[in-house]
Amino acid sequence: MTGAAVLATTTVPAVRARKAHAGNDPLVMVTAYDAPGARLVADGGADLILVGDSVAMVVLGYDDTLQVTVADMAHHTAAVARGLASWRPADPEAAGRRPLVVGDLPWLSYHVSTDDAVRNAATLVRAGAQAVKLEGGRKRVAVIEAIVDAEIPVMGHLGLTPQSVHAMGGFRVQAKGTEAALELLAEAKALQAAGCFALVLEGVPDQVAAMVTAAVDIPTIGIGAGPDCDGQVLVFHDLLGLEDRLAPKFVRRYADLRADGVAAIQAYAADVRSGAFPSAAESYHLSDSVAEELALYGG
Ligand code: KIV
Repeated sequence: MTGAAVLATTTVPAVRARKAHAGNDPLVMVTAYDAPGARLVADGGADLILVGDSVAMVVLGYDDTLQVTVADMAHHTAAVARGLASWRPADPEAAGRRPLVVGDLPWLSYHVSTDDAVRNAATLVRAGAQAVKLEGGRKRVAVIEAIVDAEIPVMGHLGLTPQSVHAMGGFRVQAKGTEAALELLAEAKALQAAGCFALVLEGVPDQVAAMVTAAVDIPTIGIGAGPDCDGQVLVFHDLLGLEDRLAPKFVRRYADLRADGVAAIQAYAADVRSGAFPSAAESYHLSDSVAEELALYGG
C-alpha cells in the first residue's frame, strides 16, 4: 500500500453520503483536543474527530462549555491538526484514513452577527478544521447559510445543546413530549435545508432520534440519542475513563485510564522515594577518561 493511499482524509461529501439505512457502516466520531489524543483517535479508526467545546469541561476544569473562546478552540484545533499531520497508522495494512476534523464554534462566536460567525468559522478552518459545528435550530439558519456560502461545511447540533444550559435549566434530556419531538423534527429539516452536511443529536429519546434520522437525508450522529442514528459520538475522556466525575447514562467506558494512570504515578513515586528510579541504564555517563580527569578535581 502506498503512503498516499494510507493517508487519504475522510471528506465532507463522504460523510454526507453515509446514511446507515443505505447499508453503510455507522459513522464513528470521537472528540480530541491535542496532538497525541488526535493520533490515538486516528489509530482507533474513527471517521471524524470533533474538537469539541467540551474541552472546557473535560480538560480546562470548567462546569460548562460557555467559558471557551474562538482563540481557545483555534488553539486546540491546531494541536489536533498538527497531530494528524504527523500521524501514520499503527497498522499500515489497515485501510487508514485521516479522520475529518470538525471544529466546534463556541458560545457567542455565531450569535452576534453573521459576519462575525463566518470570520470565526474561518479562524477554525485556518487552524486546521475541515468543517465547523454549531448548536441550535431554525434561529441559526441564516448563520449556517452564510458559513456554507463561504465554502465552510457545517455540522448542526440539536436536542440537548450544552451552550443553552442556562436557558434549558440544566443539562436535561430534550424533546420528551409530542410537541417538542415534532419541533425537533422541524428543526432538523430546517438545518438540512440550510446546508448542514450532518447533524449531532444529543440527549433525546431514542424514538425521537430514530424519527429524525428517518426523515432527513443527512447523517445523524447521536450522543445519548439511542442506537438508530447514522453514527455515534463520545467524548474522549468519557470513553477512555479519564473523566472521574459522574458520567451520564449514555456514556460507556471502554477503558479505565484514570485508574491505570494513578497506579503508574504511585509506582513512579515509590521508585523515586526508594531510589529505584532512575537506574544506571536510565542515566547518561561520562567516558572513563573524562570521569578519571574530573576525579582529579574531586568530581
Ligand atoms: O463539545 C462536544 O464534545 C460536543 C459533543 C458532545 C457532541 O459537542
